[in-house]
Amino acid sequence: MDDRVWIFDTTLRDGEQSPGVSLNTQEKLDIARQLQKLGVDIIEAGFPIASQGDFEAVKNIAKSVKGVTIAGLARASVKDIDRAWEAVKYADQARIHTFIATSDIHLRHKLKMSREQVLEAAVAAVKIARQYTADVEFSAEDAFRSEPEFLCRVIEAAINAGATTVNIPDTVGYATPFEFGGFIRDIREKVSNIDKAIVSVHCHNDLGLAVANSLAAVANGAQQVECTVNGIGERAGNASLEEVVMALYTRHPFFGRHTGIRKEEIYRTSRMVSNLTGMKIQPNKAIVGKNAFAHESGIHQDGVLKERTTYEIMNPEMIGLNIKNIVLGKHSGRHAIKDRLVELGYHLSVEEIEKAFFKFKELADKKREIKDEDLAAIVENEVLTVPETYVLDYLHISSGTSVIPTATLRLTGEGEILEEAACGDGPVDAIYKAIDKITGITCTLQLYNLHAVTGGKDALGEVTVKILPNSGNKKTFLGRGVSTDVLEASAKAYLNAVNKVVFSQKEGMELTEPPKDGV
Ligand code: KIV
Ligand code: ZN
Repeated sequence: MDDRVWIFDTTLRDGEQSPGVSLNTQEKLDIARQLQKLGVDIIEAGFPIASQGDFEAVKNIAKSVKGVTIAGLARASVKDIDRAWEAVKYADQARIHTFIATSDIHLRHKLKMSREQVLEAAVAAVKIARQYTADVEFSAEDAFRSEPEFLCRVIEAAINAGATTVNIPDTVGYATPFEFGGFIRDIREKVSNIDKAIVSVHCHNDLGLAVANSLAAVANGAQQVECTVNGIGERAGNASLEEVVMALYTRHPFFGRHTGIRKEEIYRTSRMVSNLTGMKIQPNKAIVGKNAFAHESGIHQDGVLKERTTYEIMNPEMIGLNIKNIVLGKHSGRHAIKDRLVELGYHLSVEEIEKAFFKFKELADKKREIKDEDLAAIVENEVLTVPETYVLDYLHISSGTSVIPTATLRLTGEGEILEEAACGDGPVDAIYKAIDKITGITCTLQLYNLHAVTGGKDALGEVTVKILPNSGNKKTFLGRGVSTDVLEASAKAYLNAVNKVVFSQKEGMELTEPPKDGV
């Protein structure tokens, strides 16, 4: 068997189904471009029938991200498959990924279909998809809880109908590694035409076993792993891409399999996904957590100083972390910033570089040393973002133990100078009320998060907010802002989210109802 493991990234589809995550078209495109740089084989860009926004995002990605297969998800229905094709057809290599559940639980309670009807629907769906493209993936949703003989019949029929990849999901994260490895081995032995298709696995993390189950499947012949960056996804998430990839790499002598991932892009991809989704990475997360390469105990530090491999099975450079960490300061010129940005993996337009340089200079006036993390925070929060309809021009706060917190703000918006003042329960509340008054967009603040980008008293504070506009279709918007002043960062974060609301209204991206039995 070929020793290649294909990496199918579903960050933009299953990952985007994480509670509270909602990315706009531009953010999805930025992530897709980065996934292409990372070297994933297939990008599942979305579920085109789910909403107009999803459709547009998949279509955009298919049109602009080249050199990688772009997949669109579709239930086993003509309407879904037609819509998926309409979106992915612009891709260099387009894949339709169609699915239907095969477990009795799903058949009885969700689909209200018999096994024979499901089998027929699966075959019909694959045949319809094959009329559009030669690259068709079929997934048997909830495969692990399906009756094995029936599952094998469905897989065999799907391959006969033209499926080129068959995916075996553990949809509810119920499997354990020994079982799941055996499950894949049995399928490979019992399905007579299995060598005509790629065998894929898709594991959820409800018991914290998604990566272990995926690896057990690979050890038993799976050729494709479906995963997400940082393991984000429905409920407890999906198998984490960086963990699967680094396990296969670090334990190559054991697995004897390889991927096409450019490992040095892992850290940057992880940061980008965390920033754009607002899903923070736990410090002890394997591979990309803040502590993943930190040695705290004296014995460990001593060992690593003497010989790194005493306590390190991987090193941070492998995943692109801190390759140089050059410190920049207020005397650094445009050229140095541009070079550093390229080294960090940002390929910006001339205008974006100018903006990044301007923001860098602003920061350098307040902060002596600017590290890679600061530069990345500037670019991701202030440069690669939606057009700024409203920009913060001036902010004055009056607050203390015996005064009513009051904020006076001046924004520029649509060529006008706009000013307002408001009182609030605290300075941040006062700022947000003043912004609401100016923009006329009233919102409920669902999340407010503040963290320091680097250490030190002059550290850059990064604020993340999630807002729900009081009128609209219950879609939430994430905003981020950075500054050495946390109140300014708070104002910028809120404005960033409001600008996204305005952008989405302008783009006509109001979502349609999601499908009732969406996955
Ligand atoms: O978890 C699941 O079963 C899925 C399928 C659509 C592949 O996401
Ligand atoms: Zn899934």
